[in-house]
Amino acid sequence: MPTTSPTFSSTGQRASSPTIARLMTMALEKPGMLSLSAGFTDNLSLPVEAVREATLSLLSRPGEPEYLQYGTNQGRPLLRELLARRLLRTDPGAGELADLASRCLVTNGSQQALYLAVQVLCDAGDIILVDRPSYFVFLEMLAGLGIRALSIPTDSNGATDLPALTKLLASLKASGEASRLKAIYFVSYFSNPSSRSLPEDEKCGLARVLRDAGLVLPVIEDAAYRELYYTRPHPARSVLELPEWEGFPRLYLATLTKTFATGLKIGYGFCSDRAWLAKMLAVKGHHDFGSCHFAQAICELVIGNGAFDTQLRRVRDLYQAKMLALHRTLEREGLRDLGWTWEEPAGGLYLWLKAPASLDTSMDSAFCKACLDAGVIYVPGELCFGDNAPRNQVRLSFGVLPLKDLEEAARRFVKVARHT
Ligand SMILES: Cc1ncc(COP(=O)(O)O)c(C=O)c1O
Repeated sequence: MPTTSPTFSSTGQRASSPTIARLMTMALEKPGMLSLSAGFTDNLSLPVEAVREATLSLLSRPGEPEYLQYGTNQGRPLLRELLARRLLRTDPGAGELADLASRCLVTNGSQQALYLAVQVLCDAGDIILVDRPSYFVFLEMLAGLGIRALSIPTDSNGATDLPALTKLLASLKASGEASRLKAIYFVSYFSNPSSRSLPEDEKCGLARVLRDAGLVLPVIEDAAYRELYYTRPHPARSVLELPEWEGFPRLYLATLTKTFATGLKIGYGFCSDRAWLAKMLAVKGHHDFGSCHFAQAICELVIGNGAFDTQLRRVRDLYQAKMLALHRTLEREGLRDLGWTWEEPAGGLYLWLKAPASLDTSMDSAFCKACLDAGVIYVPGELCFGDNAPRNQVRLSFGVLPLKDLEEAARRFVKVARHT
């Protein structure tokens, strides 16, 4: 019998295989390929002992094994309280503990929270303001939902250009498009991809410009890497704490996947707006009516007994060492002498490189192909822009490869840069 494909909805029609999957396939297809592309964490430092102890402790608890039962849609109450307590350490003015815990939702990675947040705010054809560069999986998600990503203007140093944003908002108003503007999104600490952290005055400036334009939009602050600083935290307060953002519906998102056990896939958020939270929870109920309860119970235990903080200290040191191995080898091999520029990150998992303007590093470029031939793979920077993407930027991830491989990958990369 011949098979007939279904007719797809507009979402189904827009859905295309994520670019990261293509990059990962390329990495796996060639033996010996060193991948600086996927933003994975370090395998050997995943917290096996902490998870083993937490699991054994759970399994030997007297009474019913509630942790193997469905949990609540919003997330385990004690876990939410522990997460709220942690947030209050960095943002003591974010709210009262009990209230904050009641505004917390635990999700299947913060990726699910991003999807829920956008799905309940936007229809196809709507617009979201995004940082420049931005988290490319978020950008792909917007494209998949038919939502337009509009970059927050930046200057040549990557800082937010507030006067240009004022002009952009005025032009949206003049063209009648401001009514389609539904939210603003930024990755504000050790960003993926740029490793840049948003200074507090820029974060406040964004709120002022929006308010002056009469656009008190929902804001999504993605703080996925906030706790992954190397030596000291980035001092800026979050949108939950800053008075300039008061009155805006605010969603602050974070995750335990980068800081603890990636595969447990526990993310979370705090939402200042009850109606927005209720809508996200309603749609989460449609998705899965609760994130993996067992994984949440493990996270609850390790946060409570200090194993989480111990792991965090370990990975901070580890990622700094990895960053330095990649960064210093690129320098030693002479990449800066070839006209490439980048900042040394103070946290996170990425180096963000700018090639000379004349060099095309995009997905289908000769440079990208030469890197693949040389056995090294990276994320082409143009994927990380909502619009007007430059074609000479590159994201390198250093989370996965061991130190020696990072050095070898850097040598291969510079060799290609020298001869392309
Ligand atoms: C900026 C940013 N936000 C959110 C996520 C989603 O992470 P998870 O779903 O693992 O919590 C990632 C993952 O790489 C990220 O880089």
